[in-house]
Amino acid sequence: MHPSGNTAAVEEPLLTARRIFGLVAHELALVEEEFERQARSNIQVIAYIGDYLRASGGKRVRPALTLLSTRAAGGDASRPNVVRMATVMEFLHTATLVHDDIIDNAETRRNRPSINSRFGNQTAVLMGDWLYMSAFETSLQERSLQVLDILTAVTRRMTEGELLQLTLIGRADVSEEQYFDILRRKTAYLFSACCEIGAILGGCGEDERGALRDYGMSLGMAFQLVDDLLDFTSDEGALGKAAGVDLLEGKVTLPLIYLLEEEPGMKSAVQSVVREGSYREFTRELFLREAERAGTLERARARAAAYAEAAAHALERVRPSKYADALRSITSYILRREM
Ligand code: IPE
Ligand code: IPE
Ligand code: MG
Ligand code: MG
Repeated sequence: MHPSGNTAAVEEPLLTARRIFGLVAHELALVEEEFERQARSNIQVIAYIGDYLRASGGKRVRPALTLLSTRAAGGDASRPNVVRMATVMEFLHTATLVHDDIIDNAETRRNRPSINSRFGNQTAVLMGDWLYMSAFETSLQERSLQVLDILTAVTRRMTEGELLQLTLIGRADVSEEQYFDILRRKTAYLFSACCEIGAILGGCGEDERGALRDYGMSLGMAFQLVDDLLDFTSDEGALGKAAGVDLLEGKVTLPLIYLLEEEPGMKSAVQSVVREGSYREFTRELFLREAERAGTLERARARAAAYAEAAAHALERVRPSKYADALRSITSYILRREM
């Protein structure tokens, strides 16, 4: 028992993604079926890769956010159009991953060869385009300009995020501000869009819609920050994708930005790894040790925790329900996640 006598506070960290998403497990199963339908094509190569992507799984965080937001807004998440839009959000996410893996030269995704490494860059570019356009085509069935506004804006911002990131590749002088700007564009807007679209479909008023939009934005910031931390601290076995590759690809993320601030002498080591594209001279362990010693991992974790807290805070503007509680649990799940 927790000293305060509050058992919820000790139980919460034990919540797994499965339990949090359990409230919408039925709808998530419908999303899987809908994904399979949306990925069908008369063109064999598209159908094949579509199925490869569907079967590789993934945590399905984004459709779960849409479904839970619809419920939290008082709507019925099992309605076919809600399931369809939740699937659209996963399609958009999948498109960005397919393109991101080309850009990042990633070989592995979800414990399998990435689309680019398995089928080549040309096929991967086109498959990513196909996924984007299919997602938009499906979303048109909603006949909602509000939804379309959000989807087009988020897609543009994600592309801006990846482009901004490219312009800063290999730079050891990335500022905290530039880093957070990239995070917001490449990841947080999509989280925010998932929640806001869920709210619109749930039929709530402006206040709750705004609250769910803000919740998603802060949650997305925490999510990408943790992804960047995991790249630093974890391994391929746990992540299902390569670890330690951000620096190899020239991406200087927050733990390193903080480390360079504390230890300017590390700049040449950072530049050497980026130049060589290998940890031959300066090992991954060295960076991890230095970051731990300087307390920069803790500093970055604290920033992630602050965003998670801001997300939970935004939920105070949403009517109380078990769905709002589940959304709140996601804020702590994201900080503890290992994949
Ligand atoms: C990976 O997203 C890309 C980031 C925004 C960090 P996820 O970690 O949600 O990937 P899957 O869908 O579970 O594989
Ligand atoms: C997130 O950035 C990519 C997108 C938002 C598409 P990362 O490049 O860090 O994502 P992972 O680590 O490859 O999943
Ligand atoms: Mg990547
Ligand atoms: Mg990453």
